[in-house]
Amino acid sequence: MSTLRLVVLTAAVALVHGFQLSSPLLRSPTSPSVSKSFSRSFQPAYSARSPRTSAVRFSQSSRDLSMKVDLSTAKPEDVRVLVAGCTGYIGRYVTKELISRGYKVVAFSREKSGVGGKKSMDDVVKDFKGADVRFGDVTDLESLRSVAFKDKVDVVVSCLASRTGGLQDSWDIDYQASKNCLDVLREQGGSHYVLLSAICVQKPLLEFQRAKLKLEGDIMEQQDVSYSIVRPTAFFKSLAGQVNLVKNGSPYVMFGDGEVCKANAISEPDLAIVMADCITDKSRWNKVLPVGGPGKPLTPLEQSKILFELFGLEPKYIRVPVAVFDAIIGLLDGIAFLFPSFKDKAEFARIGRYYATEDMVGPSYGTTTLREFFKDVAENGLQGQELGDQAVFNIKGE
Ligand SMILES: NC(=O)c1ccc[n+]([C@@H]2O[C@H](COP(=O)([O-])OP(=O)(O)OC[C@H]3O[C@@H](n4cnc5c(N)ncnc54)[C@H](OP(=O)(O)O)[C@@H]3O)[C@@H](O)[C@H]2O)c1
Repeated sequence: MSTLRLVVLTAAVALVHGFQLSSPLLRSPTSPSVSKSFSRSFQPAYSARSPRTSAVRFSQSSRDLSMKVDLSTAKPEDVRVLVAGCTGYIGRYVTKELISRGYKVVAFSREKSGVGGKKSMDDVVKDFKGADVRFGDVTDLESLRSVAFKDKVDVVVSCLASRTGGLQDSWDIDYQASKNCLDVLREQGGSHYVLLSAICVQKPLLEFQRAKLKLEGDIMEQQDVSYSIVRPTAFFKSLAGQVNLVKNGSPYVMFGDGEVCKANAISEPDLAIVMADCITDKSRWNKVLPVGGPGKPLTPLEQSKILFELFGLEPKYIRVPVAVFDAIIGLLDGIAFLFPSFKDKAEFARIGRYYATEDMVGPSYGTTTLREFFKDVAENGLQGQELGDQAVFNIKGE
């Protein structure tokens, strides 16, 4: 891949959640209470179409405690947990973790799911042995009520996220679809709501972050169900894009001197454990929980050194000035002014800049290190680590 192509691909950044972040705001782990007050005070700017107002009507404004389950002591087999976004990178592991703990798991999926809609209904059913797999539409309240919530649900775990990070899709999925699940859970007299959010909402400059913050605010404002809002730092898939390139002798591409940001990423299984624990662990109820992986946060330069060492190769680099993003964002904003269909592309470039320059750091959980992950990818390939629409480098899972 030529240098020019790498630069352009990098800057085109459709990729959400790709690189790691690091604003001064995030340089040290933020305590849950700090995150919470930040979220409460934030007023989202609606640059996309405003989310639809929920049509849900509540017959009761306060909790009906007799309908609730004490999740800290209940037997898992007595607790029904609905996973929305069960086919995603994290949702899949969360679903499997909950099944292994013995919960009555409802895995709610659309008929064609996964990266590029490549998974059939059969694939999903096979993947989630031990779960009650149901198919429907999270954007439709009636589908939720009649299919996902057909039997009374005690806990919702929402791992829903826009697969593109586009402006409207962020509001439709990161906000409204997850909110639909919250609304029906409240309507039904459910007990607890666990949300997969993101640590980067602490410095909200992007549309999907505003959508997530608006949802976090709504969750904290309502009085009917308890909640746990999990804000992970970075996922390993977001740092894996250059493993095969480096392995095959290409230079490592990094922004600036490779030390403009750092991250302690967390693995899917480790994060799934944290999220499942939110159901039973009272100390995680009604909290916003920043969650990072084990070990010290690593800069891209440090990450690259692990790769070159693993493959026994001499380090070589392509350094991309961060200003490249500013130029591309300016250009795309100009084009979007004339052609609104380019607005998403400008947002993708903004997402790229954000992730290339901001830290993703949070308190450490779990055991799998980035070195172990890179070693595994080097030996077994990138299966399961596909970024899909978010890909900048050539992650196709092969
Ligand atoms: N990547 C990172 O480094 C990082 C770091 C911190 C936090 N996060 C946050 O983690 C969250 C989840 O990430 P992920 O990587 O697990 O997400 P993902 O793999 O993209 O999965 C998204 C899930 O949402 C579902 N979904 C999306 N659009 C839908 C629609 N229109 N209708 C029904 N379902 C839809 C997908 O279903 P289908 O399979 O049917 O498409 C999938 O189950 C995001 O909010 C992200 O901000 C990411």
